[in-house]
Amino acid sequence: MTEIRNYDSAEDVAQAAAENAVEILQLAIESKGTASWVLAGGSSPLLAYKKLVKDYSDVIDWSKVLLFVGDERMVSLDNKDSNWGAIGKILDKSPELMKAKRIIPDTSVDVAIAANLYEQQIKSEKIAEFDLVWLGVGEDGHTLSLFPGNVAFSESTEEWVVPVRNSPKAPAERISLSLKALEYVDELVIFAVGASKQDALKLARLKRTLPVAVVADVVESNGGEVRWLYDEAAWNDD
Ligand code: 6PG
Repeated sequence: MTEIRNYDSAEDVAQAAAENAVEILQLAIESKGTASWVLAGGSSPLLAYKKLVKDYSDVIDWSKVLLFVGDERMVSLDNKDSNWGAIGKILDKSPELMKAKRIIPDTSVDVAIAANLYEQQIKSEKIAEFDLVWLGVGEDGHTLSLFPGNVAFSESTEEWVVPVRNSPKAPAERISLSLKALEYVDELVIFAVGASKQDALKLARLKRTLPVAVVADVVESNGGEVRWLYDEAAWNDD
């Protein structure tokens, strides 16, 4: 099932995303004892992480939550471009949220080795599926580090994590969950925020070939739920 929700502002999107996240994670903990959540990189979800710290730190038992990033840039954790670096700084503000187990990829090795190691880290957690995945979207319709025309997106693979080279968005080398890994997603939330994303999002709704549309279709066609959270600035249906 796919749902498009429209909100007035990125602030409202962040509030809705945070609320929805604790609901989904709580249900997973109640039914399985643990919950697995893939966090989105980039700037769009940062407000939502801050809301979680501020308003939802004591709502669920975070020690039962596994945290992954959907993609990571091949930089050190203290580098400004590190997704875990940026997210961790926010979550560190909550002693409760710090109880969640972070699965952090090793970005100090060759990108192909890093992808393989991260896949092993994910698989060693023995999860059947990701309970929740958060994704952003780029102005070219990329999501995760799956870029239009890049082999990491265009080449099919059985790997759950792929090395990304020549990324059009710096830094050039990254690792990313693949389309294969997205066959194992229960709930997908896409942050569709900001005027600069309007064209890509409209194209993604019309022509299902952009990475963010293909990702959403893979999740839905494998039984997952997809929620697009739009702010007013990103919505254009002219
Ligand atoms: C990354 C992200 C990427 C991001 C989009 C949108 O590591 O770069 O995973 O897919 O979500 O580029 O980025 P913004 O939210 O900063 O616009």
